[in-house]
Amino acid sequence: MKLKPVKGMQDILPEEVRRWQLVEARFRRAVELHGFAEVRTPLLEATELFQRSTGETTEVVEKQMFTLERGSESLSLRPEGTPSSARAYIHESVYAKQPVSRWYYLGPMFRAEQPQRGRQRQFHQAGCEIYGDAGPLCDAELIDMLYGLLSDLGVAGLKVSVNSLGGNESRARYRDALIAYFKPRAAELSPHAQERFEQNPLRVLDSKDERDRAVAKAAPSILELLTPDDRAHWQGLLDALDALGTPYEVDQQLVRGLDYYTRTTFEISTTSGAIGSQNALLGGGRYDDMIAGLGGPATPAIGFAMGLERVLLALGEFEAAPPAWVAVAPLAAPQQNPALKLAKRLRQQGFTVEVDGRGTSLKSMLRRANGGGARFCVVLGESELARDVVQLKDLARHEQEEVPLDQLVARLTARLTEPVTSTESEDRG
Ligand code: HAM
Repeated sequence: MKLKPVKGMQDILPEEVRRWQLVEARFRRAVELHGFAEVRTPLLEATELFQRSTGETTEVVEKQMFTLERGSESLSLRPEGTPSSARAYIHESVYAKQPVSRWYYLGPMFRAEQPQRGRQRQFHQAGCEIYGDAGPLCDAELIDMLYGLLSDLGVAGLKVSVNSLGGNESRARYRDALIAYFKPRAAELSPHAQERFEQNPLRVLDSKDERDRAVAKAAPSILELLTPDDRAHWQGLLDALDALGTPYEVDQQLVRGLDYYTRTTFEISTTSGAIGSQNALLGGGRYDDMIAGLGGPATPAIGFAMGLERVLLALGEFEAAPPAWVAVAPLAAPQQNPALKLAKRLRQQGFTVEVDGRGTSLKSMLRRANGGGARFCVVLGESELARDVVQLKDLARHEQEEVPLDQLVARLTARLTEPVTSTESEDRG
C-alpha cells in the first residue's frame, strides 16, 4: 500500500513553509502592535465544548467534526479556535486577573468538509479574541487592523463586509420575522432547510443551496429590527470605521455559519481570481453570550480567524528567499574535523553553515551546495590547512579567492553586503 496523507490534509514542504512563515510573521507583528498576546490550547477538546458553543445545528458540529470515543469520553479535534480559547479563559479564571484580555493563536483546525481549492480538512487559522470589551471601538479597530494587514501583504481586490445580528432581543425578533417569512415559502426551500428553518432560521441565510439563496434574497433585514442599544452599537461601529477610513460594505445577509454571534459580524473576501470560489479570507464577530454560556461570568467578546491557506492562495506565487548559507567542503578525511571546527566558529558569528561530511568529490560537494542554494562554498584541502587559508567560492558571482582563515568572516560579510547583479546570479549551474 502506498502511504499518502489523509484526504483533505497536506504536507507543507520547507520551501513552501518559508512563505507561510512570512505571512505568519506579518500577522504576529500586526496583532502584537495591537496588544495581543499568544495563547496555545490543545488540539483535542471534549465534544460537548463545541456542541455548546459552535452550536449543535451548525454544519460544523452536525457533520464536520473529527470525533473519537475513548472509554466513556467523546473527544473532538478542534474545528475552530474560539471555543478552546474561551474554555481556557474560563478555566484559568483570567477574568478575575485582568478586565480586558487580548489573545491570538495560530494553528491547525479540522473539519471534514469536501476538499476543494481553498478548502481542506486540516487547515490553518490565525485568529484573535478580545474578552471584556463591549465595543464598538475595538470591533472597528479589529476590522481596520485586518484590512491593513491584508493590504500590506499585497492581497488584491479586498472586500470588507459588515453586519449586525443584534443581541438576544433583536435576534428573537429577527428569528420570528424570518420564520414568518420562510413559512409560506417553505416548499421552495431545500429539504434540509425545510427541516431546519423553524429551529434555526439564520442558517437558511448562509446556506449554499441555490433554492435557499433564491428565497433568502428578499428575507427581512435584521438592521430594521435592532433594539436601540444594538442600533447604537452598530452606528458606533460604522462611525469608527469611517473615522479610520476603512472601506466596508454593509451586507445584511452576513449571518456567519456559527451559532454564537451577537451584534457585529464581519468577513473579508477577495475578488482576486487566484483563490477560486472559497474567497472568504477571514471571518469573525462578537459573541457576547459565549463565556456565560460555558459557565463563566457574563463577559463580552469579539474575535476573528483568518484562513492561512486562502491568504497564501490569494497572494499567488512569491519567493521567500532562504537565508544566505555557507557550505564547508573538506577535500579529504584529515580536513573533516578542522571543517567541523570552522563551521562551529562561523555559526557563532551568525552564519548558517552546513558541513559536507559525506567524503565525496569536490564536484559532488559543489553540486550539493549549488542545488541547496548555498551562497558560498568554503573549500578546505591539505595545502590550505597547512597554510591557514581556505578557498572561498562565491557561488552567486562565480568567483573564487584564497582567504586567510582569520579574515574569512570579514570577507563573507563584505561579499554579502555587495549587491549581486541579476546577470551574475543567473544560472548557478
Ligand atoms: P469561520 O468563518 O468558520 O470562523 O472560519 C474563519 C476562516 O477560516 C474562513 O474565513 C476561512 O478563511 C478559513 N476556513 C474555514 N474553514 C476552512 C477550510 N475547511 N479550509 C480552509 N480554510 C478554512 C471561525 O472559525 C471563527 N472561530 C472565527 C471567530 C473567532 N469568530 C469569533 N472569533
